[in-house]
Amino acid sequence: MKFNVIIPASGSGERFRTRIPKQFFQLNGKELITYTIRKFNSINSVESIVIATKKEYFKRLHKIIKDNKFQKVIAVVEGGATRHDSVFNGLKVIIPTDDCYVIIHDAVRPFITEKKIKEMMEVVKDCKAVIPGVKINDTIKEVNKSNIVLRTVPRKYLWEIQTPQIFEYDILRKSFEKANREKFKGTDESSIVENAGYKVKIIEGEKTNIKVTTKDDLKQFDINRFL
Ligand code: C5P
Repeated sequence: MKFNVIIPASGSGERFRTRIPKQFFQLNGKELITYTIRKFNSINSVESIVIATKKEYFKRLHKIIKDNKFQKVIAVVEGGATRHDSVFNGLKVIIPTDDCYVIIHDAVRPFITEKKIKEMMEVVKDCKAVIPGVKINDTIKEVNKSNIVLRTVPRKYLWEIQTPQIFEYDILRKSFEKANREKFKGTDESSIVENAGYKVKIIEGEKTNIKVTTKDDLKQFDINRFL
């Protein structure tokens, strides 16, 4: 099995309230994205890594790749207006081989563990499409535009979904082509694959695999244990 990683890193991170997007925020002396790339660069079965970011950050990213000897990064491509477009730009440069899989992982989720990535690599052998999630424990309400509760949603079958999301190359490629034809945009890659009619398996994710969105997110737990 050969795994190719796409890291979308083209968000502007307005909620982080810094001049630079959060993926380039300094954490213990390194940019946050460094920790994310390192998790994948050190796994043997990862063949290549492609990163999508804004053109103005190409130079900065190339320096990070060089300084940290991330030899598996084969391309830095331009991100798009949406996450969907950024990932598709990354997918275009992957040259598929036999037994080829694609892993998509948010640049801003540096706390993912190698253990979880490897577990998912095993699971995807059988199901061809796997995503991590955590079960919802709180009560979920659906509201109208004025925040008036319309109903309480039964939570028994609800999961909060994270990345990495792993798909067989052909499944992902065909799903993106269908979505692009239909102008369907998903907030994650799984929704694109689901839209094309494929089955996606959820496995238990890690609560610490947070998407860093605000500075307060970094105060939630001992982040150093996971970097
Ligand atoms: O915006 P959101 O929080 O969903 O971002 C998740 C990931 O997608 C981040 O790593 C962000 O940099 C990336 N992204 C992107 N291109 C966009 C928007 C977000 O690569 N146009």
